[in-house]
Amino acid sequence: MKILMVCLGNICRSPLAEGILQNKLIKNSLDVSVDSAATSDYHVGDKPDSRSISKAAECGIDITAQRGRQIQNSDFQKFDRIFVMDTSNYSNTVALTNKLKEINKVELILNLINPGSNQSVPDPYFGGKDGFKNVYRLLDAACNVIIKQIKNEQS
Ligand code: 4NP
Repeated sequence: MKILMVCLGNICRSPLAEGILQNKLIKNSLDVSVDSAATSDYHVGDKPDSRSISKAAECGIDITAQRGRQIQNSDFQKFDRIFVMDTSNYSNTVALTNKLKEINKVELILNLINPGSNQSVPDPYFGGKDGFKNVYRLLDAACNVIIKQIKNEQS
């Protein structure tokens, strides 16, 4: 099983999502891989935003080795589930394929917590530290659901 986290820049939200899920997968000894990517090419090759790095570090998670990359069509073959942070990421991601089987891999991550609500993880890039705290809280809750689902599938 391979999971991809997607946002606009791959420097704020999806690197946190990758780090949080990776941490939980290791803690639960689950053999699942996680990666993250951007819909844009704005920050290809960049480290995560320093505010995401700090928030993750506060929670004992090191995301400094991550580098920004842009999602590409081949990701639809490589990954089983593709979690997007907001509705704009959703449109931009599904626009990369016309195969229904691949479109069905794409899910709004907050639908894990509130099914069918189609809520977005707010983009914290232009705000302050509190935005990152909120993003962490939402992603942590969503990743707990992913872990539960994987455990259910494997039992
Ligand atoms: P992210 O946040 O999508 O959570 O990584 C953003 C990062 C950069 C930009 C926008 C959002 N930007 O416009 O450069």
